[in-house]
Amino acid sequence: MAQLQHEEEMEGLEEEVAGPLPVEQLEEVGIGAADVKKLKEAGYYTVEAVAYTPKKQLLTVKGVSEAKADKILGEASKLVPMGFTTATEFHLKRAEMVCMSTGAKELDKLLGGGIETGAITEIFGEFRTGKSQLCHTLAVTCQLPVEMGGGEGKCLYIDTEGTFRPSRLLAIAARYGLNGDEVLDNVICARAYNTDHQSALLIQASALMAESRFSLLIVDSAMALYRTDYSGRGELSARQMHLARFLRMLMRVADEFGVAVVITNQVVAQVDGGMAMFNADPKKPIGGNIMAHASTTRLYLRKGRGENRVCKIYDSPCLPEAEAVFAILDDGIGDPKD
Ligand SMILES: Nc1ncnc2c1ncn2[C@@H]1O[C@H](COP(=O)(O)OP(=O)(O)O)[C@@H](O)[C@H]1O
Ligand SMILES: [Mg+2]
Repeated sequence: MAQLQHEEEMEGLEEEVAGPLPVEQLEEVGIGAADVKKLKEAGYYTVEAVAYTPKKQLLTVKGVSEAKADKILGEASKLVPMGFTTATEFHLKRAEMVCMSTGAKELDKLLGGGIETGAITEIFGEFRTGKSQLCHTLAVTCQLPVEMGGGEGKCLYIDTEGTFRPSRLLAIAARYGLNGDEVLDNVICARAYNTDHQSALLIQASALMAESRFSLLIVDSAMALYRTDYSGRGELSARQMHLARFLRMLMRVADEFGVAVVITNQVVAQVDGGMAMFNADPKKPIGGNIMAHASTTRLYLRKGRGENRVCKIYDSPCLPEAEAVFAILDDGIGDPKD
C-alpha cells in the first residue's frame, strides 16, 4: 500500500517535470516581466520555444538587444536539456513517443504504429486521394486513450481550402464509441485565408497549446495558399522564404509540445527532361527542397480501385519504401472491405 502511494506520488512529480515550461518561468531566473511579455507577443509561449530559437531570430523581437538575447538564451538553455545524451537514453525517450492510429490497420503497420508525435508528417497526392479524409480521422483518433492508438489530446486544425467538415468527425466518433459533442469540442479549427494569416494562426496555436493538452496539429493544405499568393517565377524565392519560416515554426511546435504535425500537399507533374519516360508515376510534391527537408516522413497517396487508396512511404528516416492499401469509408479511414 505504502509502495503504491509512493508510486502515485512519483507519477505526480513526473507529470510536473515533463512537458513544456511556460515562458513565465524565465522571470524566476532574472528575466524581466516586460521582456517575458514581449516574448509572448512574438509567439514564444514556452521556455523550449525560446531555447530552440537562433539568436538572430530572437533579435527580431521588439526591445531585445544583443546583450539581452544572450542572457535570455543562456537562461533558457539552462532550463531545457539540449546537450548530448547516450543512445540508450535517446532510445528510451523515443519509446515513450506515441503513435496515433490512422484508422486502418494495414496503414498503421506500414507506418510502424501510426502517425508519429513530435515530428512532421506530410501527406501528398492528387485531388481526391483521401488526404483530407485522413486528416479528419486523425482529428478523432488523436483524442483516444494511448492504449487505443490515440494521443489523449485535442486537435488543432488549420483549414486552407474550406474542406473541413464537422459532420465527418461525428461519423468517425461514433465508430470509436466517443461522444460526438465532446469530440467536436476537442477539435479547434480555423480557416486560413492567406499565407500571412496561416502563419499568424500558428502563433495563436502555440498559445492554445501552452494552455491545454493537444496531441495533433493539422494544416490541410500547407501549400495551397502559397500557390495562390505567389505566382510566377519572379516570386519563387519570396515564396520559399516565407514557406521556410512557416515550416520552421511548425517544427518548433512539434518539438516544443510533442504533438504530431500533419500537413497535406499537392502534386505537380514532374518535368525533368526525358526521365519522366522511365517513371511510371511522374508526380512530385510541391514546395521543393524546403518542404522535403522539413517533413520527417513523407507519404504519397494515390487512387486504387473504388474507395481504395494506396499509401506509399516516399521518405522516412526509419521506414523502408513500401506500400499499404486503405479505404475511404463513411466512418473514416479503414481497411479495404475485400
Ligand atoms: N462520407 C463519405 N463516405 C465515403 N467516402 C467519402 C465520404 N466523404 C468523402 N468521401 C470520399 O473521399 C474522397 C475525397 O477525399 P479527400 O480526402 O477529400 O481528398 P483530397 O483531400 O486528397 O483531395 C472522395 O473520393 C469521396 O468520395
Ligand atoms: Mg483535401
